[in-house]
Amino acid sequence: MLRVVVCVSGGGTNLQAILDAIDKKEITNTEIIAVISNNAGAKALTRAENHGICAICMSPKSFSDRAAFNRAFTEKMCELNPDLIVLAGFLVRIPEDMVKKFSNRIVNIHPSLIPSFCGVGYYGLKVHEKVLERGVKVTGATVHFVNEGMDEGPIIAQKAVYIEDDDTPEVLQKRVMEQAEWILLPKAIDDIANGRIEVVNDKVRKTEKSEIKVQR
Ligand code: GRF
Repeated sequence: MLRVVVCVSGGGTNLQAILDAIDKKEITNTEIIAVISNNAGAKALTRAENHGICAICMSPKSFSDRAAFNRAFTEKMCELNPDLIVLAGFLVRIPEDMVKKFSNRIVNIHPSLIPSFCGVGYYGLKVHEKVLERGVKVTGATVHFVNEGMDEGPIIAQKAVYIEDDDTPEVLQKRVMEQAEWILLPKAIDDIANGRIEVVNDKVRKTEKSEIKVQR
C-alpha cells in the first residue's frame, strides 16, 4: 500500500480528483495518510476532513523565519514518513533537505506543458495569463518529480489542451484542470503505486502496463 501525503494551498480540486479516483478504485494500492496545507482557509482541508483524512495546517507565517518553517515542515514529513508526497497546488517551495530525503518520491502537477510557462513566478492563474498573452495555441498540464530546481524534475506525464479564441485565464484554467490535471495526476499516482514507473538517468521510464504512456 502506497502511503501518500498530499500538500495543498487552495481549492483542492486536484486533491478531490485523487480522493474520487481512490473511491472508484481507479487508483489502487494507495492510502492518503494526511493532507498538509500552508493556508488555514484552504477548502482542500475541508475536503480532507470530509473524507476522514488527517488535515494539518503548517504556515510559514507562524514561524520566526523560513529556515525554522523548513525544519519543522521537513521534520513533520519525516514523522509521517510517506512513500510519496503529492504537491497538488502547493504554493510553498519544498525545502532542499526534504527534496534530498524524499528523492524521486515527490510529484508535482503544473498547469502548462513544461518547459514552457514554468519556473519562478509561474503559478496558479498567472500561468494561464502568460499563455494567453503569448498567444500559443496549445497548452496543457505536466506531472513531474520534484528535484532541487523549479519545475525541472523528471517528467512523468503531459497532456495537451487546445486554446479557444475567446478564452480568459479563468476559463482556460478550468479547461486545463478538467481535460488534463484531474486525469493525469490520479493516473500518475496509480502508476507509481503499482510499480509501473522508474527513474533512469533522470528520465522517467514507464513499463508496458503504464496507463499514462500516451495521453490523448
Ligand atoms: C492547479 O491548477 C495546479 O496545477 C496548480 O494550482 C492549481 C491548484 O488547484 N499548481 P486545486 O487547489 O487543486 O483546485
